[in-house]
Amino acid sequence: MLLYYKSNPSMLVRSTQLPSLSDPKFNYYNPLVDPIAHERVLQLERGIFMQEEYWRSKLINISYPISSMTRYSLTGSPKLHELVRKFHKLQNPNADFDQKELVFGVGATQVLHAILYAIYHKLKRKLLITVRTPGYLDIPETIPVLHTCQATYQPNLTYADVEFMATPNNPDGRLQTAQPGVLYTVYDRINFWPCYIGDDPSLPSRHTFKEEDITVFSLPKLNGFSGSRLGYAFIRDPELAHYARFYVVTQTHGLSIDSEIRHMTCLEWFMKDNNYQNFMRTMVETLQNRWNILRETLKSNSEIILLNSQGPNAWIQTPGKRAKDFLRSSYNIVGTYGPEYGASEDYARLNLLLFTYQFNEFIRRLRNTSG
Ligand SMILES: Cc1ncc(COP(=O)(O)O)c(C=O)c1O
Repeated sequence: MLLYYKSNPSMLVRSTQLPSLSDPKFNYYNPLVDPIAHERVLQLERGIFMQEEYWRSKLINISYPISSMTRYSLTGSPKLHELVRKFHKLQNPNADFDQKELVFGVGATQVLHAILYAIYHKLKRKLLITVRTPGYLDIPETIPVLHTCQATYQPNLTYADVEFMATPNNPDGRLQTAQPGVLYTVYDRINFWPCYIGDDPSLPSRHTFKEEDITVFSLPKLNGFSGSRLGYAFIRDPELAHYARFYVVTQTHGLSIDSEIRHMTCLEWFMKDNNYQNFMRTMVETLQNRWNILRETLKSNSEIILLNSQGPNAWIQTPGKRAKDFLRSSYNIVGTYGPEYGASEDYARLNLLLFTYQFNEFIRRLRNTSG
């Protein structure tokens, strides 16, 4: 029998061990901390530091006896299922999830792979899959090592067996809709949280998900605990859900209970008082403010075109120049680049989910060299 985490508010205790973010020692670009900090490369590839900054201000600890919760969890503990459903219901009472099955995996990545496996085993033939570019190309890049499925990938098809459709999209934050010629649309909604939808942060609470047979989420993209891998999908077809679960169980023998505990603690904390609303308001305001500052800063920059205005990443173009070389030589910045998303080398994706001191340094560098 699974031994699972029981809700226990005494697990949440305050501690004073971590340094305050207002401590100048925490700002690694402060010349008093490191005189050559401004010369160091600024890494804007990935990482969810904005949320980490929020949690640091809360100083919540989890503690439990090492002897407890020792059993493994194959498909997610009952408590995890209950909390995830309850959390979605509270945020969006109109969401159509009640009749859908919930499948957990080690990150949304494993869930996406499990879905590909499930569709392949349901259709029992080689699959044609597509992604609209620029887009998140995890699946196409992973096909060669997913020995359990036969599939070919072609970008930007309007017909296919499966489209992996991130909406909002990674890298550019655009919202996408399903195409009628696609048999299975996999709605990758890992960025479908209010802070990533600058134009209309209330959209996730109004969306019904009615048309969506397969919808994928990732808790870390919401709360920032990206080391505690946990993704899930709501799947309408029980046969697909069964195959997807089978994939997770056979590939990793289920989930890590430690990661479940961290996310369950977070979900319970979110659902107390107005904690989620306060957390999300801070995320929405912080990111909107960053977008405003970035837009303003790049307005006078003739060498960088800002192509989007919402989401966790700035998607930019450096016309006529290889973005990787140009950003490194002009600003000492490293990002990820067009080819990773099916675009050319004059595109780059720059992470905005930074600690405040990192974001300030990013803007300082752009301003010092632009105009
Ligand atoms: C669009 C999209 N889908 C899926 C994933 C994978 O999420 P996870 O980290 O939960 O595996 C990512 C990761 O950034 C992503 O950007």
